[in-house]
Amino acid sequence: MKNNTDNSPKLERNRVEPNKTGDVLIDIRNIHKSFWVGGQEVKVLKDLSAQVHQGDYLVIVGPSGSGKSTLLHTLLGLEIPTSGQLLFLGKDLYKDTTEDIRSEFRKQHVGMVYQQPNWIKSMSVLENVAFPLILRGYRKELADEIALSALKEVRMDMHAHQPPTELSGGQQQRVSLARCIVHNPEIVVADEPTGNLDYESGQEVMQLLQSMNVKDKKTIIMVTHDIEYIRYANCAVHIFDGSIAGYYDKEHLGDFVSKLHTKRITPVDPINSPQVYVQ
Ligand SMILES: Nc1ncnc2c1ncn2[C@@H]1O[C@H](COP(=O)(O)OP(=O)(O)OP(=O)(O)O)[C@@H](O)[C@H]1O
Ligand SMILES: [Mg+2]
Repeated sequence: MKNNTDNSPKLERNRVEPNKTGDVLIDIRNIHKSFWVGGQEVKVLKDLSAQVHQGDYLVIVGPSGSGKSTLLHTLLGLEIPTSGQLLFLGKDLYKDTTEDIRSEFRKQHVGMVYQQPNWIKSMSVLENVAFPLILRGYRKELADEIALSALKEVRMDMHAHQPPTELSGGQQQRVSLARCIVHNPEIVVADEPTGNLDYESGQEVMQLLQSMNVKDKKTIIMVTHDIEYIRYANCAVHIFDGSIAGYYDKEHLGDFVSKLHTKRITPVDPINSPQVYVQ
């Protein structure tokens, strides 16, 4: 079997071994995903198998276009795999389900944070954070109370009555973290949550995510381009060209970062991280 990228802990390519943090929450089994573009098949995910355990803080890294977001969308029920199976909390997410069922499942169990927060612009910070609860039928007073407490967690309660668009990028991202945990999901999924932030704000978001993992026992799955942030996680998957090129548990995360820095494996992002460009 060709191993074009690294010599990480004796792992079969494309197979992520259990991290044994806790019970298996997500079990990805031999997932393939292709898109058809102009009559041509574009294979984006190629026989991916992985497990995410309760309590993991899993970071997914890889070059642009390697399939990280497609993988996240697949495990969130947003992108139907071409083949393979995805068990999420024991449920076969794509068997006998509709988009509505998957959406309901997602609302119940997952909090999501993206690079660019989406706000309802006519609403205040507090109303935006309370909104997911209102959609679930909470009384306004109770929804506001829970939302305010989530804003306190991210130290943004003092901005509760401002429009979110008046806040800095880092402050907005802290509010989107509050919104994503307001319904107490088991899993927080973040796709490049620091992508638009300066260094300080990025660190703050990372510390909040880490605290959600350590203090609130949330399972975190985060895609990042930034090698610096790998140290906040307790395991990492390196995606390269739609396949898993390496899996690193807590003990081996340091090795992974040094390999990236010493150019011994394919970089996370050749454009934004020229200092770690390929062998
Ligand atoms: N809906 C789609 N139709 C066709 N091709 C797609 C579609 N979605 C993704 N792709 C292709 O799949 C590949 C992987 O895309 P993906 O967004 O998963 O990459 P990524 O690793 O998240 O990249 P980045 O770091 O730039 O966000 C790319 O070549 C992309 O063009
Ligand atoms: Mg992406």
